[in-house]
Amino acid sequence: MAVLPIRIFGDPVLRQETSEISEVDDALVRLVEDMIETMYEAPGVGLAANQVGVQRRMFVYDVGEGPGVVLNPKIVESDGEWSYYEGCLSIPELAWDVVRPKRVHLLGMGMDGEDLDVEADELLARCFQHEVDHLDGVLLVQRLDSDRRKEAMRVLRNRSFDGSSLAAPAARSDI
Ligand code: NI
Repeated sequence: MAVLPIRIFGDPVLRQETSEISEVDDALVRLVEDMIETMYEAPGVGLAANQVGVQRRMFVYDVGEGPGVVLNPKIVESDGEWSYYEGCLSIPELAWDVVRPKRVHLLGMGMDGEDLDVEADELLARCFQHEVDHLDGVLLVQRLDSDRRKEAMRVLRNRSFDGSSLAAPAARSDI
């Protein structure tokens, strides 16, 4: 297994849509293992394939109950509202209170090729929404209201992410 470099805001790969996976092969198994190790090393509670430069529709996650993988995820239903202080591994050091649906119904495929059908709530639901956004080329800043988005873009434009200025991990989860 290997820790992969995580692509950072500004990398065009993060804005591109990913393609569906039709077959679980050895390369995909290795990618999943590397992505899980990368997620734990970061640390984060979720990681989408395009965050490590792979344009495939797949993410890994662990919200504290062990690692999981979803291929070809699709949110088919959502309801409620839930506010969470949300960060992103591709946007280091920044986080915002973001309101999103509290519950989602996610469909996808597991590594065994079987259909997945998950009802998720709170942090797991947040993680699923954040990762599906990544796979659609949507970043967290696009989920902010226009005032906060403008401020975020100002901060991001004026900063270089060379890793040297990274603060100690804050009390939040990066997804
Ligand atoms: Ni993210």
